[in-house]
Amino acid sequence: AIYPVLLSGGAGSRLWPLSREAFPKQLLALNGPKTLLQQAAGRTNDATRFGPLTVIANVEHRFVIAEQLRALKVENAKIVLESEGRNTAFAAAVAALLTSRSDPDALILVMPADHIIGDTTAFLKAVEAGAEAARSGRLVLFGVQPTEAATGYGYIKRGEAYRDFAGVSGVAQFVEKPSQSLADQYLASNDYAWNSGIFLLHCATFLAELQTFAPDVLNAASTAVGDAVEDMDFLRLSPEALASSPSISIDHAVMEKTALACVVAAEFPWTDVGSWSALWSLGDKDETGNVLVGEAFALESSNSYLRSEGPAIAAYGVEDLIIVATPDAVLVTPKKHDQHVKSLVDLLRNEE
Ligand code: GDD
Ligand code: MG
Repeated sequence: AIYPVLLSGGAGSRLWPLSREAFPKQLLALNGPKTLLQQAAGRTNDATRFGPLTVIANVEHRFVIAEQLRALKVENAKIVLESEGRNTAFAAAVAALLTSRSDPDALILVMPADHIIGDTTAFLKAVEAGAEAARSGRLVLFGVQPTEAATGYGYIKRGEAYRDFAGVSGVAQFVEKPSQSLADQYLASNDYAWNSGIFLLHCATFLAELQTFAPDVLNAASTAVGDAVEDMDFLRLSPEALASSPSISIDHAVMEKTALACVVAAEFPWTDVGSWSALWSLGDKDETGNVLVGEAFALESSNSYLRSEGPAIAAYGVEDLIIVATPDAVLVTPKKHDQHVKSLVDLLRNEE
């Protein structure tokens, strides 16, 4: 079977002031009534295709996550708790160890909890296309057609098409978060796809690759799982073992190094909801391109994102602006600078 795994460890600080440590973006309803975590859990909530869900998250978020899954009627989900984030190699190792205990031949579908995927049917088709290759011991990536020379993604250079698995190609090269000049080259060459951050992994193969390329991560994960404590519906990983793991992403630890990676085209609309302008792009716009959420009003204004979770916002004569108001904080920034919201959050944190 394929076991879905949601990674819910990120803070999402570029979506401040909505996204907070206590309530990171994946736990928020940013683009409709369901939270990003609920949308992600819903995509694989189908017992005819998938085994039970595992969510790996920070201990502080356990009740919110349990409640969001309950509201969605997701059955038998396991919520695995980290006392601190040790990045995605560790979290994926924990998922592979836990899943292979009961099913040594299992596949895990490791997914970020904070993406928007526009077409579940197409998503499930892509997963199916990768399943045979994964079962035969490949590590499957889903490659998105790049639209800009972004430096915040992994880049996959497609290799030769596999003859035995339709729709699957080898990976000639994987480069996590390249420099701007490399990203420019990759985009121009047309040979590269973005890594969607979704992985379909044969547990035993993935653990063997970790043993080769990141044995410290694997050791820490084994101890963290071995010494884990059941607590109601939660599984608390050993904090000491967790703290002993290097903090490294699955991309740097394994995907850049392994010879077993392959890629399936992600032919579904995919958005990494990393910043406010991504939400502006996705949102319903008025005649002049403004997205207005909550008590927000605009006159003689264009291409702006105005969102209120409390006080009314009214803007006159603004362009390409982001204004987000919550009961205790307001953000104002030009859309083109929305990546710098992270530095604002760092600044505010240091002032506290
Ligand atoms: N449980 C847990 N613990 N989850 C974590 C941790 C952790 O320590 N760190 C990150 N995550 C979760 C995040 O919440 C997110 O859902 C997912 O793992 C990916 O982590 P990010 O930190 O968002 O990674 P990224 O965006 O920089 O890069 C990855 O995703 C890109 C696509 O969005 C890479 O896989 C890139 O190659 C890829 O292009
Ligand atoms: Mg991300």
